[in-house]
Amino acid sequence: MNREDFKLLSSDLIYFDNAATSLKPICISEKLSDYYNNYSANAHRGDYDLSYKVDLEYENTRKLVKEFINAKSTNEIVFTSGTTDSLNKIIFGYFKYNLKENDEVLVTKSEHASNLLPWYELSDELGLKISYIPLDCNYELTLENVKKSITSNTKVISIAHITNVIGDIRPIKDIINYAHSKNILVLIDGAQSVAHTKIDVQDMDIDFLAFSAHKMLGPTGVGVLYGKESLLKKTYPIEFGGGMNSSFLFDKTRQYHEIPSLLEAGTPNVAGVIAFSEAIKYLNNIGMNNIEKYENDMKEYAISKLSNIKDITIYNANISSGIITFNIKDIFAQDLAIYLNKYNICIRAGNHCAKILKDDLKIKNTCRISLYFYNTKEEIDYLVKVLSSPNIKEEII
Ligand code: ALA
Repeated sequence: MNREDFKLLSSDLIYFDNAATSLKPICISEKLSDYYNNYSANAHRGDYDLSYKVDLEYENTRKLVKEFINAKSTNEIVFTSGTTDSLNKIIFGYFKYNLKENDEVLVTKSEHASNLLPWYELSDELGLKISYIPLDCNYELTLENVKKSITSNTKVISIAHITNVIGDIRPIKDIINYAHSKNILVLIDGAQSVAHTKIDVQDMDIDFLAFSAHKMLGPTGVGVLYGKESLLKKTYPIEFGGGMNSSFLFDKTRQYHEIPSLLEAGTPNVAGVIAFSEAIKYLNNIGMNNIEKYENDMKEYAISKLSNIKDITIYNANISSGIITFNIKDIFAQDLAIYLNKYNICIRAGNHCAKILKDDLKIKNTCRISLYFYNTKEEIDYLVKVLSSPNIKEEII
C-alpha cells in the first residue's frame, strides 16, 4: 500500500525493520522543511504572528493525537522525546510519589529495557518489589497468569501492549479491567502498538500510555505521554526550566503551569511535533483497521513461506502482529542480518533490548522481521528465496 509516498522504496531496498523505526512518507520532510524555511519560531513564547502560527500548529498536533487515541482532553497529551522519555516521566514523576516500600510492580520478562530499567532504579530508591508475570509456552501473556501473579501488595502492572520480540498482542482491556477491580494501575508501553492497531484509551480504560512518533511514520525525537487527567494532575515534573513555570522569585517561591505544559520543560522538538501531525493524518487516511488487517495477512503469508525454509525456527508463528522472530540453525543471528544486507534486505538481529527474554526463549540472539503496510508479498518472496539458498551456510561461514 502507498509505496509511492516513500522515497526509500523507490530503490530496490527491502525494509523489514519497522519495529525499530518506520520509514517516513515524503509529507513528513515537506512539513519539516516548511517549518524550518517559513515559520521557524519557538512555541508558546512569542507575541508576533510567526510565533502565533507555531503555537497553532503545535497545539493542532496535540489535538490530532488526542483524537487518534480517543483521549478525553488535550490536557492528557504530553509531548516527550520518545517512549523511553515518556516512561521515565511517568515512573519518576507519578509512581515515585505514589508508591512506597514493599509495594509490588508486575512486569514480564519480554519487556523492553525502557519498561524495566526505570523500575529497577525506582525499586532501589523506594524498596519496591519487582515481580515477573510468567509467560505461557508461546511466550505470551495471558489474563490467567496476570490474575495468578497479583498479590495484596501489587500496585502497578507495567506492560507492553505488543512486545517487540515476540510481537504478542496482550489482552490489555481485560487485564486493565481486572487490575482496576483490585485498585491496581496499569501503565502501557505502546511503542509497538499505536502504529499498528487502533487504540482507544477511554474504551480500554488505560491509565498511562507511552509511545513514539518515529515508529508511526513521524519524525525521530518526538514521543507522547498519555495519562488520565486525574493522574497527570498528580504527576510531578522531572525536568524544570522554561515553559513549565509561570513565575519564580529569588527566595525560591515559584509557580508552575498546569498540565500539559508543566511536563514539557524547555524548548520542545517544535519541528518534530508539527510534522508529527502529518503522520497522524496519513495513518487516519489509510485507516488503522485497514493497516492491521493488511499486516495480519502479510504476516500469515510470510509465516507460510518462511516455514518451508530448512533449519528455520520461528519463535512466534501464532501471533497476529507483523513481528516474526526466527533463527536458522548454525547461523549466528547477526551474521544472517549482515548476509541479508548484501541483498539490500534490512532486518534486525540481536536481543532487541529485551535482554531478559532469553530466560524463557533459551536463546539470546534472534533475527526479527517487522512488517508495515508498505511491505509486499513480493518482498517476502525475495527474502525467502535468499534464505533458501542451498549454499547459505557456506557463504556466511
Ligand atoms: N525498540 C526498538 C526495537 O525493538 C528500537 O527495535
